[in-house]
Amino acid sequence: MASSKSKGRVSLDERFYLSADDFFPANAGLGLTYDDVSLATRYSEVLPRMTRLDSALSDSLALSLPIVSSDMDTVTEHRMAIAMALNGGLGLLHYNMSEAEQVAEVRRVKNHIHGMIGDPAVVSADDTIAQVLARIERDGLAFSTFPVTATDGTLLGLLPGSTVKERHGQRKVVAVMIPRDKVFTVAEKDLGKDPIATADRKFSEHVGQNKLLVVDAKNKLRGLFTLSDIERISEESRAHVRPTRDIDFRLRVGVAISVPRNADGEIDRTRLLAHVAALIDEGADALAISTAHGHTKGVGDALRLLRKAHKNITLIAGNVTSGEGVEFLAAAGADTVKIGQGPGSICTTRIVAGVGIPQLTALYVASRAAAKKGVRILADGGITKSGDIVKALTLADAVILGGLLAGSREAPGKLMEINGKTYKEYRGMGSHEAMRKGSAARYGHSASGKFSKVAAEGIEALKEVSGTVDQVLGTLAGGVQSGLGYLGAANLAEHRKRARYIRVTPAGQREAAPHDVIEIKAGS
Ligand code: XMP
Repeated sequence: MASSKSKGRVSLDERFYLSADDFFPANAGLGLTYDDVSLATRYSEVLPRMTRLDSALSDSLALSLPIVSSDMDTVTEHRMAIAMALNGGLGLLHYNMSEAEQVAEVRRVKNHIHGMIGDPAVVSADDTIAQVLARIERDGLAFSTFPVTATDGTLLGLLPGSTVKERHGQRKVVAVMIPRDKVFTVAEKDLGKDPIATADRKFSEHVGQNKLLVVDAKNKLRGLFTLSDIERISEESRAHVRPTRDIDFRLRVGVAISVPRNADGEIDRTRLLAHVAALIDEGADALAISTAHGHTKGVGDALRLLRKAHKNITLIAGNVTSGEGVEFLAAAGADTVKIGQGPGSICTTRIVAGVGIPQLTALYVASRAAAKKGVRILADGGITKSGDIVKALTLADAVILGGLLAGSREAPGKLMEINGKTYKEYRGMGSHEAMRKGSAARYGHSASGKFSKVAAEGIEALKEVSGTVDQVLGTLAGGVQSGLGYLGAANLAEHRKRARYIRVTPAGQREAAPHDVIEIKAGS
């Protein structure tokens, strides 16, 4: 502690701006969260754009962006998981779906070839151009060039948009299509480890082509690249985003699993192990046992079972807010422990059950227990701005976001318009509706129970639509990089070492937000 050092040697800054190991013990007994604290700036030679945000959830699961999307049914399905991995983070698929659907969701992420449209709209050779036009109108399609296939998917030709005109309405597709031997194609096996680079090269070699069809060894259509997509992606890849991929160059994905139980309350081991084996067969990279209370016998038993069956899979477990909880889950086999009880934007656990610890204090306690046990921690919930992530990353290896991603285009759920503004549904997994869909076990209730008698620990809400995940993460990552620049930290290890904290009073909190002006344009 600063006060224990000889007085003469302690600088003014050291007396006021304390390291984590001085600051949090000095505030023991007080629950602090993000807005209660600010970080001191330090001498810096680091420009924000030079900083690296690399982190890891286990020795085998590295991330170039320390952000994970929450395993909630209004946040992470395959589209979100794909977008998260493409940005260097990770998506955790939720479990409010059947086991078969969850396996299919993993397959969709693992089979995703960035830039390739896996199930392009096709037409059949016998269709008339009038029928194709009617379909474009009915489905609101923005394009008019289609691969032509037989019912078994065999590629027969390509219908060029230039022929899809009223004047040719009575003609059949077969009469105007480009025949198979003249269609611009690539064999699936020749796409190699970097399909984008392959497609990019092929487009450069063939001037004037703007659709590249992918076929398998039996000439069945497997997908389609368009020149405009490839140009956009090649442009983006120059922005130094490093996607999260496995050794086979497939995107990585995590999966939350619910632990099935027999009528007598014991874990249904056969069913759990069969489901997990199916997920791992499809290529799942991490499994998460997500419950509201992870420091329990049930979670410990399930973790031990999974660790015994799968030595190398990354196991995430939680949630806890105590050192003992972290040590318990580490001993049971977790690589990463989720920290957070009640901080979430849709959570009511603290109100309903009267429990939970404000997030920064919980993260400090958890981080010190995690360091002792050699595990990593995730800051889960309560993050509403990039500055919160900067603070969380002084203690945690990565953060989990729910609300900040729930309004993005890739989050599941329908858009709804209210008074000219567009919203998406966002609900707690402990809300009545989500529990009815299957997440009751997470909150220690029976999935078949009568939910009207069970206290919900989450609310149903709306989030204003916030653009694509790329945009949301781009803005957040930029904010985090600024934070590191202010601390003079080139990476997250230096960030943790250089962090110095100070408490903020309510007046200080008011000072931190825009004040005494009429806001005409909200900052991002
Ligand atoms: P944010 O603040 O990012 O929080 O929206 C997302 C996290 O909240 C947790 N979660 C819940 N906690 N009742 C709770 O007490 C709920 O119904 C609920 N649903 C989600 C979860 O940890 C998530 O990642």
